[in-house]
Amino acid sequence: MANVVITGANRGIGLALVREYVAAGDRVYALCRVPAQAAELAMLAEQSGGRLTLHALDMASGAGVAAAARAAVGEAPVDVLLNVAGVLGGETGAVTSTRFDEDDFADWHHAFEVMTVGPFRLIQALLPNLIAARGKAMTVSSQLAASTWPFGGMYAYGATKAGVNRVMMSLAIDLRDQGVCVASIHPGYVQTDMGGPTADITPQKSAAGIRSVVEQLALDNSGNFFKWNGELHPW
Ligand SMILES: NC(=O)c1ccc[n+]([C@@H]2O[C@H](COP(=O)([O-])OP(=O)(O)OC[C@H]3O[C@@H](n4cnc5c(N)ncnc54)[C@H](OP(=O)(O)O)[C@@H]3O)[C@@H](O)[C@H]2O)c1
Repeated sequence: MANVVITGANRGIGLALVREYVAAGDRVYALCRVPAQAAELAMLAEQSGGRLTLHALDMASGAGVAAAARAAVGEAPVDVLLNVAGVLGGETGAVTSTRFDEDDFADWHHAFEVMTVGPFRLIQALLPNLIAARGKAMTVSSQLAASTWPFGGMYAYGATKAGVNRVMMSLAIDLRDQGVCVASIHPGYVQTDMGGPTADITPQKSAAGIRSVVEQLALDNSGNFFKWNGELHPW
């Protein structure tokens, strides 16, 4: 039974990953902004025989990210850490920091806190737990990180994802000697609140793919940017 930590666990790809890992018999720490409002997670937790617990974590809370993660996980070894939480831009998730005439740069900072700095803070905070398990940290990025995916607009979002890929690659190099694998992944174009109903694949399919890529992740392929189907994503 692996110990698995998942952010953005209350809906979308994060929730589908929680289902995957719980169904596989693992112990899941589900981190989300407002556990009291996470009805589906709470229902899953009730049926999990104590293998799923809910914990509050706001990825935009600065130093609060580390404190919340440590409070949630304690001394438990972490086999898998999944950074999933994301926003398209803007504190409400509205697509704002995507326009050339954007003049509220608070959106940019917020997006970076949630999708670039937050994942780094989380790995920093849980490093002893990851080392104890010779664990793996996988960050959900996006094809919009890649220079090979020409797409205008979405300035802040694309920049945070390109940034986090680079951060994860550096961490993979720095943590290799301690037995910790780090990588990033494009989850597919997924039918969630973010992807919309006409996207290519279901959250279940994306989550199953991500879990399989995490299983294959090892020190010799650590630092890569993957696709949900296991291929390497050029970037
Ligand atoms: N869907 C796609 O096609 C697609 C494609 C490429 C990459 N991605 C990436 O995949 C990841 C998951 O996306 P999704 O499609 O599942 O999106 P989603 O359905 O919109 O879910 C986003 C999740 O992130 C959480 N979140 C947002 N801000 C947060 C914060 N400050 N602190 C903690 N949690 C926060 C949300 O929690 P709340 O309910 O509290 O807001 C929610 O659980 C994201 O990183 C996204 O960029 C998605």
